[in-house]
Amino acid sequence: MRHHHRYLTLLLFSIFLLFCFYFQNSVVTFTYNSYFRYETERAPCACGDCPLDRGRLDWFSACYEPTVHLLLNSSNSVLRADVFGWWKGLQNVTRVANYTRVVKNLFPLFPEEEHYSDAGPDRCRTCAVVGNSGNLLRSHYGPLIDSNDFVMRINKGPTEGFEKDVGSRTTHRIMYPESSVDMDNSTHLVFFPFKILDMEWLISAFTTKNINETYMEVPSTIKANKDKVMILHPEFMKYVYVNWTESHGRYPSTGFLTLMFVLHICDEVNVFGFGATKAGNWHHYFDETLTLYVNESHAGDFEYQTIRRLEQEKRIVIFRGWT
Ligand SMILES: *[C@@H]1O[C@H](CO)[C@@H](O)[C@H](O)[C@H]1NC(C)=O
Ligand SMILES: *[C@@H]1O[C@H](CO)[C@@H](O)[C@H](O)[C@H]1NC(C)=O
Ligand SMILES: *[C@@H]1O[C@H](CO)[C@@H](O)[C@H](O)[C@H]1NC(C)=O
Ligand SMILES: *[C@@H]1O[C@H](CO)[C@@H](O)[C@H](O)[C@H]1NC(C)=O
Ligand SMILES: *[C@@H]1O[C@H](CO)[C@@H](O)[C@H](O)[C@H]1NC(C)=O
Ligand SMILES: *[C@@H]1O[C@H](CO)[C@@H](O)[C@H](O)[C@H]1NC(C)=O
Ligand SMILES: *[C@@H]1O[C@H](CO)[C@@H](O)[C@H](O)[C@H]1NC(C)=O
Repeated sequence: MRHHHRYLTLLLFSIFLLFCFYFQNSVVTFTYNSYFRYETERAPCACGDCPLDRGRLDWFSACYEPTVHLLLNSSNSVLRADVFGWWKGLQNVTRVANYTRVVKNLFPLFPEEEHYSDAGPDRCRTCAVVGNSGNLLRSHYGPLIDSNDFVMRINKGPTEGFEKDVGSRTTHRIMYPESSVDMDNSTHLVFFPFKILDMEWLISAFTTKNINETYMEVPSTIKANKDKVMILHPEFMKYVYVNWTESHGRYPSTGFLTLMFVLHICDEVNVFGFGATKAGNWHHYFDETLTLYVNESHAGDFEYQTIRRLEQEKRIVIFRGWT
């Protein structure tokens, strides 16, 4: 009987221990789960790897400003004094028009709906930024580039005759008056205004067609869909200059501005056609003109280091080509 009693105590004690163990385990599981769920909820996009993920207090997060004005519209067109001062300093033409008056004529003409504020945990927007480097030749990147949701090309970069290496789709083309080309009806024209005259040219190109000269001869009009025009905000240009090139050079290059623009509207950034060829040449894939990072107004070296750093921190993926 006594023996029996001891056996029962032991059994109860074991059950008690088992309960403790189980309970402790579930506390751990519970904690782990909520931690895990908390982390998942913070994922800013639906891609495997979001550029904005890893909410650390690091270099990227310190520079990245999600609330900066990206595209110009009638309600955000009044520029901060520091932005206007910096941006106005870029103009190297002698006749400078009244900015307020020019902007007033922009938006009856061009659309101003908000395109890209749909970032969130359900979105995985993949984007290809296609620069014009000769390293694209013989890369066979065409299908890879075309498989992105957005394909952004810069300035004159053609597709015809180079489809195998650069792809054939163009959802967005970045340009300014001196680099303007015709495009098809479905392509967004993303206009980079480096001066007030550029905005006047844009208006003229779709209306009177009477501006045919800036600091050089420019086309007085282009073939493009007026309803797909977007204009980069001068505040964004200054932000890229201050935050991302740390005020090196006079202003950021078009390629660098484009990369930063894409980093602010896409969840996966794939970079093609940037940098030199393997032999160290800096020419376009379509001719012998020097590419983006020549030493003029832009801090090519610093921009390149920044791009390398973005790659190392897995915010972007760089495809270097074969030649
Ligand atoms: C203009 O852009 C700002 C962001 O820069 C946005 O908040 C606002 O809704 C836009 N206005 C219009 C009319 O689309
Ligand atoms: C204006 O700037 C462009 C490029 O930055 C340059 O090619 C051109 O020579 C300049 N023109 C004048 C008048 O300074
Ligand atoms: C520009 O034009 C606006 C109105 O169209 C006017 O209020 C402003 O004073 C002008 N600015 C300059 C610098 O002339
Ligand atoms: C281009 O698209 C616009 C609508 O955005 C349409 O009105 C126009 O007819 C189209 N033009 C051609 C040539 O397809
Ligand atoms: C540019 O336009 C002016 C008049 O608007 C004209 O005299 C001139 O010949 C034009 N230049 C070219 C290259 O078409
Ligand atoms: C980035 O820009 C924002 C606003 O333009 C500014 O407040 C912030 O200090 C800048 N960060 C860096 C690292 O320059
Ligand atoms: C660019 O030019 C400046 C002087 O004009 C020079 O100090 C600098 O080393 C040059 N950078 C490169 C990368 O050639």
